[in-house]
Amino acid sequence: MTSLTLFCFLRRTAVTGDSAYAYANAASRRCVQTLQRRPSCRRHATAAAAINSHANSGDFAPLLRVSTRNMASSAPKLVAVAESRRFMIDCFKAVKVPQAHAEAQADLLVAADHRGHFSHGMNRLEMYINDLAINCTDGGAVPKILKETPATAWVDGLNGLGAVVGNYCMDLAIKKAKTVGVGWVCAKGSNHYGMAGWYAIRAMEQGLVGMSMTNTSPLMAPTRAKEAALGTNPLSLGAPATNGDKFLLDMATTAVAVGKIEIQRRKGAGLPDGWAQDPNGNITNDAELGFSTGCLMPLGGSELTSGYKGFGLGAMVDILSGVMSGANYSTQVRKWTHAGADSAADLGQVFIAVDPNCFAPNFEERMTDFNARLRGVKPTDPSKPVLLPGDKESQNMASVDAAGGIQYLENQLNTCASLAEKLNIKPLAFN
Ligand SMILES: NC(=O)c1ccc[n+]([C@@H]2O[C@H](COP(=O)([O-])OP(=O)(O)OC[C@H]3O[C@@H](n4cnc5c(N)ncnc54)[C@H](O)[C@@H]3O)[C@@H](O)[C@H]2O)c1
Repeated sequence: MTSLTLFCFLRRTAVTGDSAYAYANAASRRCVQTLQRRPSCRRHATAAAAINSHANSGDFAPLLRVSTRNMASSAPKLVAVAESRRFMIDCFKAVKVPQAHAEAQADLLVAADHRGHFSHGMNRLEMYINDLAINCTDGGAVPKILKETPATAWVDGLNGLGAVVGNYCMDLAIKKAKTVGVGWVCAKGSNHYGMAGWYAIRAMEQGLVGMSMTNTSPLMAPTRAKEAALGTNPLSLGAPATNGDKFLLDMATTAVAVGKIEIQRRKGAGLPDGWAQDPNGNITNDAELGFSTGCLMPLGGSELTSGYKGFGLGAMVDILSGVMSGANYSTQVRKWTHAGADSAADLGQVFIAVDPNCFAPNFEERMTDFNARLRGVKPTDPSKPVLLPGDKESQNMASVDAAGGIQYLENQLNTCASLAEKLNIKPLAFN
């Protein structure tokens, strides 16, 4: 199948409504609106929304997945982590991504599902495939160092896959940190790189403190603004403790991800104050309006509740990743909703690794003590102990491992079946 054929297929399925999905570009959005105007499709959309409720966070323009098959069924099926990875690798290879790059991207996506961040796992697969199919992303690109000092590097991702660019840059930062104590690598020319925490984990696994940030498509309205000028711009910090324990903060800098607003909308529920704005810049409790406006509020919400701090954090991420790297930043970043065939994302990202042994001794032991102090404080509700960043994800991984696989929703599985058929690859197998 040629890239063009695949692209046509992706667009066509969105129009026909047989496992229709619409996402992230103007054509697809028009298609969703058409579907929503048809009463029968509206019904399907509502049902699809109800069973897709686990895809409850996201960092890009509103995604609506509409499946008209098996709408009544939400029976869970487990997919082994290794099988999920195999499937994604096969999909990437089908659109001419080299084996190593396909593996890197699949590792990132399956890790997100394993950790419970479904919005950044398999859920994204067809978006990447589509970008690759229309040559918006170069699946074979190998990042290139543009400028280097012992502690720093400026890298051009050459429009490669996010995980390929991210892994390359973090590995470079790690190498530098092991040599001179710190490695700070900025990349331009990158693409969506998934979980920011993925790269912090890479450094942590080497006994280093890791940090990473990326800019994203505009979705956050700065405090006092009625237009989006920053993305959900996530940041991560990973600090290793002893015996495999850790502190792993990995978060968007908006109050909530857009997917959470979509879920409220699908449920017909309202929004709490501080999540989203209406077109006039006022806080809205109307999920439909919040969703269509596409102006998320920064972490903290309104000015009264210190939303300017989230705005500041999101801007910090963009300065360190977009401005400093020479990539697109702020409103220069494409709206994924309007991505055309010629529109490369040119995202900016930053990867920092620090050797804690350059400072006070026994960092990992001190981290263990630090973590214990935080986890040990008296909880408000005794049945809900205090958690540290990263704990929920560790718990989710343990649950997946105990269950023997990842529980994808029927809706996601239908999309995978459709992809398998069109890309002519082996379908997903279940446990
Ligand atoms: N690449 C992109 O464009 C992009 C954009 C936005 C988000 N993301 C990714 O999406 C994922 C989800 O982001 P999010 O902001 O929705 O995450 P989230 O709100 O689910 O969690 C944010 C952080 O809070 C921690 N946390 C959750 N509950 C906690 C509790 N009770 N006590 C203490 N800590 C707790 C989590 O462990 C995590 O570190 C992340 O991996 C993020 O990097 C990516």
